[in-house]
Amino acid sequence: MPQLYNEIFDANKKWVNSKLQESPDYFEKLSKGQKPPFLWIGCSDSRVPANEITGTAPGEVFVHRNIANMVIHTDMSMLSVLDYAVNVLEVKHVIVCGHYGCGGVIAAMGQKQFGLIDNWLRHIKDVYRLHQDELDAIADEKQRADRLVELNVQEQVFDLTKTTIIQNAWAQGRFLQVHGIVYDISNGILKDLSVTVGDNTEMEGVYKLQVKKKLIV
Ligand code: CO
Repeated sequence: MPQLYNEIFDANKKWVNSKLQESPDYFEKLSKGQKPPFLWIGCSDSRVPANEITGTAPGEVFVHRNIANMVIHTDMSMLSVLDYAVNVLEVKHVIVCGHYGCGGVIAAMGQKQFGLIDNWLRHIKDVYRLHQDELDAIADEKQRADRLVELNVQEQVFDLTKTTIIQNAWAQGRFLQVHGIVYDISNGILKDLSVTVGDNTEMEGVYKLQVKKKLIV
């Protein structure tokens, strides 16, 4: 495992050689373009690498990661990634992946100040408030944190569906599913949370947007 900065380049050379041995045109093929079927919105946590845990290769997953896999509707970085993935790459599945033991979620459950990040984590406190009755009823702190991880993923899935980007894709009749999953760091298992959304039929009315009519001049 590389510990020093320079060691990254040695590891990289070994990786390049191993890929070329598998397939001499490996990089040539990849350099022609990408058509990944998945957009992954995950946590920045170093233990949750999107490709490795899903057995996918370079070119197969478009990735956005931030602390606690959040979908904040004013986050230009997330929105730009989403827009590009949906409208240019035309991904079929958007996956929000949380993970048990998420430091961001655990921090959001407490009252301690951590600095600037508290403003980012506040969105998770909003999720807690939305599900306060269920969460307060869980006595065990770890179990409560695990459940908040799941509920947080669920809310981020719903927040994705509220964006104009997802709603317009659906209005065009496109197949596009948004999924919520959780990764268990302690055993490596991915769990589907059964919160997949593929249209706006169950969306609360206030979030449903009409398709914008084209201006005819
Ligand atoms: Co995390």
